[in-house]
Amino acid sequence: MQIIKDETAMQRLKNAYRIVALTGAGISAESGIPTFRGEEGLWKKLSPQELASFEAFIKNTAMVSEWYQHRREIIHHTQPNNGHYALKELQEIAPQFDLITQNVDGLHQRAGSTDVIELHGNIMENYCINCNQRYSQDEFDELYRHNPNHVPHCYCGGLIRPNVVWFGEALPEESIEKAYRVSQEADVFLSIGTSAQVSPASNLPLIAKQHNSYIIEVNTSRTAISDLVDLHLKGPSGEILPLLMDDYQHLINGAERFR
Ligand code: APR
Repeated sequence: MQIIKDETAMQRLKNAYRIVALTGAGISAESGIPTFRGEEGLWKKLSPQELASFEAFIKNTAMVSEWYQHRREIIHHTQPNNGHYALKELQEIAPQFDLITQNVDGLHQRAGSTDVIELHGNIMENYCINCNQRYSQDEFDELYRHNPNHVPHCYCGGLIRPNVVWFGEALPEESIEKAYRVSQEADVFLSIGTSAQVSPASNLPLIAKQHNSYIIEVNTSRTAISDLVDLHLKGPSGEILPLLMDDYQHLINGAERFR
């Protein structure tokens, strides 16, 4: 089923050198990972300030550590979906492709994407807030299991936290700088499964637009940037992205399909 029917969209995709994709929680929804702001979103039930901030971690380390172990448990039992795999294929055939994600679930990497720009960190990584010692998830699990009140400590005595960006914290400098740079150079910018409400990630589509990029949004509903994008493809990314990939392959192979 052809999903790119707009002549401009076809030309912009066909002639694109650099394609950039920004993903949010929506791309992992079909894998069974809850989003944050949707009807069943995490923030509908829980308070981000009480769970996803450094102050919350210091004030209630056991509860925050337990919540992240719960999210890891969910992720551990999920698999990448067709939307993740479609972006992995796009990386293989586009002349230049950059994948920026707000997600911390690592599903893009498990689908085979490489050089993923993780703006908000990775939930399977941990480090000591005192000496910065890194702990793999297996090492953290071991310490977590053996600590009576689920407050694992580093060998130096410091608390161990997840390597994710909490509210009020700066994003990894290298990641956000690269994300800004590639967004400025994007010929086509895909905004996928994000409500585009959290900066600086939400600035990226605007920056791409300011630099004459063609913006395609893939989302099950309208978002804060839907009036700005050039093409809004409404639907689940696990269905839309494989169709988009199929169209893209026909476009660059010059197949008869579009004549
Ligand atoms: N396919 C495409 N889009 C979907 C799907 C789907 N199957 N399911 C939900 N969506 C859309 C929703 O309509 C919504 O616009 O995904 C978006 C998810 O938005 P949020 O829950 O706000 O997630 P996100 O945009 O990634 O949040 C950004 O906020 O809480 C912080 O750090 C957290 O990285 C997160 C950031």
